[in-house]
Amino acid sequence: MTWIEDLARRADAVLPDYVSAYYHSHAGDGSCDREGIADWNAFRLRPTVLRDASAQDLTSEVLGTPVAAPILVAPMAQQVGARPEGEVLTAQGAAKAGTLLGVSTNTGARFEDIAAQGAPWWYQVYVARNRDATRLLVERAAAARARALILTVDTTPLGREVPAIDPRNWPEGPRKNRTANLTAEELERFGKDTDMALDLTPDTIGWLAEVSGLPVVCKGVLTARDARRCVDAGAEGIIVSTHGGRRLGTSVTSAYALPEILAEVGGEVEVHVDSGVRGGAQAAAALALGAKAVHVGRPVMWGLAADGADGVADVLATYQAELVTTLRQMGIGSVKDLRPADVVTRVSR
Ligand SMILES: Cc1cc2nc3c(=O)[nH]c(=O)nc-3n(C[C@H](O)[C@H](O)[C@H](O)COP(=O)(O)O)c2cc1C
Repeated sequence: MTWIEDLARRADAVLPDYVSAYYHSHAGDGSCDREGIADWNAFRLRPTVLRDASAQDLTSEVLGTPVAAPILVAPMAQQVGARPEGEVLTAQGAAKAGTLLGVSTNTGARFEDIAAQGAPWWYQVYVARNRDATRLLVERAAAARARALILTVDTTPLGREVPAIDPRNWPEGPRKNRTANLTAEELERFGKDTDMALDLTPDTIGWLAEVSGLPVVCKGVLTARDARRCVDAGAEGIIVSTHGGRRLGTSVTSAYALPEILAEVGGEVEVHVDSGVRGGAQAAAALALGAKAVHVGRPVMWGLAADGADGVADVLATYQAELVTTLRQMGIGSVKDLRPADVVTRVSR
């Protein structure tokens, strides 16, 4: 069993069944989720010898923000299901690890409380059917020092996340999904119109940038053509993602999509990647191919559930330590020195 599988078991042991099922859930038959993990292992690294690898430097920058390592926390909903403080603890863990976190639209924590933990953060946007609700949220996120917006674009149509109970049907109490960044009066007024809009177009990117004054990064892109459409519409970054295999169960994996997207827009904007990256060696392959950063999802959630902020920090520190070991074994002194030639592609095509 890997350390992440062991951590997942510890998390499952403390969580109600409906919460752990939701965290594990995937679309379709789960093949995109499973193969999404396997495909990262299908990249093989090419170690070199007789190079000075006595020290490793992981420091990097994402959209101008310095981070201790290019391993970030993916935005995830329903973190209050893991711990009542939710993202406040995740932000504490990220701060300890010197990195940045994504904060979901569906967060039960207040932006100000998350920001107060000291970690840089990006706000993930699900555009609401009523754009005024989204305008309020992004204005509030910007006021609470979010440094960028992650526009999640893989929402049309929603894949079924099975097997799990939709969080809207979770029992009442602290684990219940709630949006803490709209007032009760606003929630009442917008009603069902805070549900996700399914009619997004590339114009949404410019509108969000204008409303927030922040750079917009598009998350959930899996083809070069869509990456081009996003960048032409003003996106300053792309996150290659299958949403952790939670959207289209039969879609290509992130490992499959990353090279073609890098070839199309990698010279113009930052390209990040997530879904199924289960360790520092796998992160090294993604970075060598040209990804600017890797985002980690479920392992962070399991760390949060099992051990709170320390658990989050431990997960991130373990990825960082594995990345150091991998670089050392490859004969490389800095993440910035990783090159596509350091990887052999064996992903099935
Ligand atoms: C429980 C859970 C909730 C998530 N909620 C969101 C969300 O609200 N917005 C979003 O853009 N992505 C969401 N994601 C997807 C993550 O941001 C990320 O793409 C994915 O988890 C990465 O894959 P991994 O879990 O295999 O690391 C969620 C993922 C999980 C597991």
